Amino acid sequence: MSTSIIKIIPEQANRAEVYKQIETIFFQTSSVQQFASDQARDSFKDRWLTPYLTSQKSENLYSVWVAMDESTVVGYLTGHAQTALFRQVHDHLSLSLFADLHDDYPAHLHINMAPNQQGKGLGASLISAYMQELQSHKICGVHLVTGPKARNTGFYRRQGFNAEYIRNGGGVDLLFMGQKLD
Ligand SMILES: CC(C)(COP(=O)(O)OP(=O)(O)OC[C@H]1O[C@@H](n2cnc3c(N)ncnc32)[C@H](O)[C@@H]1OP(=O)(O)O)[C@@H](O)C(=O)NCCC(=O)NCCS
Repeated sequence: MSTSIIKIIPEQANRAEVYKQIETIFFQTSSVQQFASDQARDSFKDRWLTPYLTSQKSENLYSVWVAMDESTVVGYLTGHAQTALFRQVHDHLSLSLFADLHDDYPAHLHINMAPNQQGKGLGASLISAYMQELQSHKICGVHLVTGPKARNTGFYRRQGFNAEYIRNGGGVDLLFMGQKLD
C-alpha cells in the first residue's frame, strides 16, 4: 500500500476522524501506559497533544502532518514554529528547562508512528515534510526533547538533529536535540 504524507488543515473535511486516529497512536506510543485516573489520562493528553489539535486557523504557527494509508493514519507529527510563544500559553518543564535555546531552534516537534508501522522510514518522511514547511517560512531552527537513553535518539541524529544538550529537570535527564535550518 502506498503512504501519503499530508498536512492537516482546520478546514479538512475528515479532521475529526483523523484527530481520533492521532489520539489512538498518541496513547499506543506514549511513554506512560498506566494512568491513576481518567483525569490523569486527560491532563497528559492536554499537555502533549491537545494544544496542537485545537487551532482554528490554517495560517498559524501550529502544524499537524500525518502519514496515511488510504483513510488510515499510520503516524503523525505535531509542531509549533515559535516555541517561545507556545511557552507563554503551554509552559512545562521540558520547555522551560531549555528556554535559552529557543531563539536558535525556534520550532519544536513531536512525532509518533503506529507500533506496526515503525522502522519503515515513514518517520523520516514526516520530519522532512515539516522541515520544508519551516524553511518556506524562514524558521531558522527546529528541536525536540527526548530521553538521552531513548532508542529514538539514533533516528533523530540521522535526521540531522546534531546539537545536543542534556539537562536534569525534576530528577530526570532530558535531551534537547536541535537542528539549524537554512
Ligand atoms: C521514533 C520514530 C518516530 C521513528 O520513525 P520510524 O518511521 O520508525 O523511523 P525510521 O524507519 O525512519 O528509522 C528507524 C529508527 O527509528 C527508531 N525507532 C524505530 N522503532 C522505534 C521504537 N519502537 N521506539 C523508539 N525508536 C524507534 C530507531 O532509531 C530506528 O533505528 P534503529 O533500528 O537503528 O534503532 C518511530 O519509530 C516511533 O514512533 N517510535 C515510538 C515512539 C517514539 O519514540 N516517538 C518519539 C518520541 S520523542
